[in-house]
Amino acid sequence: AGSGVGAYGFDSMDQWGRPYPDPQRFPSGRGGGGFRPIADKVHAMGLKFGIHLMNGISTQAVNANTPILDVRTGKAYVENGRQWRARDIGLTHRTCAWMPKGFMSVNTDLGAGRAFLRSLYRQYADWGVDFVKLDCIFGADYSPKEIVTVSEILKELERPVVLSISPGTAVTPALAENITQHVDMYRVTGDDWDSWKDVRPHFDVARSFAAANKIGAPGLRGRSWPDLDMLPFGWLTDAGANQGPHRTTSLTFDEQTTQMGLWSMAKSPLMYGGDLRHLDDRTFNLITHPTLLKINHHSRNNMEFGYIHSERASKPDEQSGRSKSGYPVDVTNNGGMVLGLSTCSDKSAVGWHRSSEDRICRSHGIQNGNASFCISKAKLLPTSDGVTMSSGEDQAKFHLTGIDTDDGCLDASVSPWRTSSASQTPMFSACEQHTKQVWELTENGQLVSSYSGLCATMRSNKEGENETTGARAWTAIGDKGTFI
Ligand SMILES: *[C@@H]1O[C@H](CO)[C@@H](O)[C@H](O)[C@H]1NC(C)=O
Ligand SMILES: *[C@@H]1O[C@H](CO)[C@@H](O)[C@H](O)[C@H]1NC(C)=O
Ligand SMILES: *[C@@H]1O[C@H](CO)[C@@H](O)[C@H](O)[C@H]1NC(C)=O
Repeated sequence: AGSGVGAYGFDSMDQWGRPYPDPQRFPSGRGGGGFRPIADKVHAMGLKFGIHLMNGISTQAVNANTPILDVRTGKAYVENGRQWRARDIGLTHRTCAWMPKGFMSVNTDLGAGRAFLRSLYRQYADWGVDFVKLDCIFGADYSPKEIVTVSEILKELERPVVLSISPGTAVTPALAENITQHVDMYRVTGDDWDSWKDVRPHFDVARSFAAANKIGAPGLRGRSWPDLDMLPFGWLTDAGANQGPHRTTSLTFDEQTTQMGLWSMAKSPLMYGGDLRHLDDRTFNLITHPTLLKINHHSRNNMEFGYIHSERASKPDEQSGRSKSGYPVDVTNNGGMVLGLSTCSDKSAVGWHRSSEDRICRSHGIQNGNASFCISKAKLLPTSDGVTMSSGEDQAKFHLTGIDTDDGCLDASVSPWRTSSASQTPMFSACEQHTKQVWELTENGQLVSSYSGLCATMRSNKEGENETTGARAWTAIGDKGTFI
């Protein structure tokens, strides 16, 4: 009861300051078994049982100054000849950011603080809880000492309890640095309700965590996972509404498919955020899509494939008419053309042609320009990354180098991903025996990257200004070494 953000939190609380299930809402717990009867039933259905928790201790327990249970003795916690109580351990200046009146952090420097937390988690494990979502401890409530303490307590338990921490507001890879090894999963995004404006920023967040190698980093039990939050599909209700009225998701099916795709490619934990009892076929098929689940579970090296826009054509040299890096540039458009990648169905993908034996140029799509951008076709080096290449006489596939420069080979690599501040990062890198540098010119004028299946394109700098707009692509390696 009283779960609003401004509530003091009037929980059912035992003599040790620990909450237990409201007997009105969970009558099965009336015998004193807490969530045990529900957990038993859930387990009998072949499922796992998880609960959401507020970190620390309730204001209610601190006000009542309850004694602390020492699970090792079964009695009140005593240290240095005195009995410790809730007021000794509650940090009244560290309240939960989004429910400040209800909950506060616990001083884990004190044996009594650690004993209190141990008494909570020991009880959850006794109830048969398999998963705890611990709120008010990460992001805006970042509390590394408490995260580590809870993690250590969970490790002492004989049954595995998955540790998931929250909230994800203001989370960066740097903030996650010291805690990923102590948890199983951690929210990296703000709340994800059924609105595209919620989903949209998650593309950038997911990209950051992928680039920082946080996906599947060492964790509490094996590995840990950046968590993009729930999938609000199907039959659901409004944000913050405990009861109905229910309605269908506001996301279009395309948006849902895109969201499910990102969550799968970024290997986010997948949590359905709708009413499972009213699951329509289309939603069911989306959240259990075999290919997406396989990618989510078994892929590796997951990265956003930079919507490559680099190699900003610079002002040409007065005499040679070439840019400093040696590429002919289109001067009619302020040199503002950028080489990038797009899906091959995009009409901007066509326009490449062979202008001479060793030269591939782009002549369309640039006003008043002729061969505005050319690159040299170089001999294909055999690739060593396991992707089969045709080695026919016609050299259908090739490396591409700059003209009259030693800049290296045109590269469609997924890393490093390019931020707008790093927009000068050249697309040309040292030539190597890797498919990311292999290209193919198709008959209809597309320059296809063998690595990604994406097509080279040219667009104006202005269009590329905002990387948060437009197409996104992710790549990964599948379980059999195949490219996804
Ligand atoms: C992580 O730990 C290091 C070493 O103790 C510390 O310097 C750094 O500030 C910590 N980072 C965060 C975000 O707390
Ligand atoms: C550009 O095209 C025009 C007309 O086709 C041609 O006369 C001119 O020589 C071309 N310029 C270059 C640099 O290829
Ligand atoms: C880039 O984003 C800013 C801020 O959202 C917007 O004002 C501007 O018009 C955008 N530019 C382009 C080219 O889309």
